[in-house]
Amino acid sequence: MNRRAFVEVSLTALGSAAIGGCASLQTVPVTPERGRARIVVRNHPSLDRQGGSLKVLPDGWTVPLYVLAVPGGYVVVSPICTHQGCTVGIEGSHLVCPCHGSTYTRDGAVVRGPAEEPLRRFPSTLHGDGVLEIDLAGAV
Ligand code: FES
Repeated sequence: MNRRAFVEVSLTALGSAAIGGCASLQTVPVTPERGRARIVVRNHPSLDRQGGSLKVLPDGWTVPLYVLAVPGGYVVVSPICTHQGCTVGIEGSHLVCPCHGSTYTRDGAVVRGPAEEPLRRFPSTLHGDGVLEIDLAGAV
């Protein structure tokens, strides 16, 4: 294989890896209206299955919210660890902080410290037309 062919093959492989990574960590930009963000669930296949997830980034925000499929619906949480502010990652049925190992359930409850407080949750409502409405000002 000559140098040019090697570079083309390598770039193709890198592109495929990047697309695959994006598919599992898709971030969707949204434009909130009156403090509420809306997503149409059926437009996001990653939310169709149990354990599915999606990142939603409202205009002007620097950190996306995590929308997580849970039994019976969806939960929206901040990914900011309540210990010292690192960003937690989605690892199967849990959210895990890479900094000191705090572990949360998919609905934000602490199952392992050092974090003591749950992740901030944003109230959300799934309407009959399949629109998930997220109250961006109502985090608890
Ligand atoms: S910042 Fe997350 S465990 Fe310390």
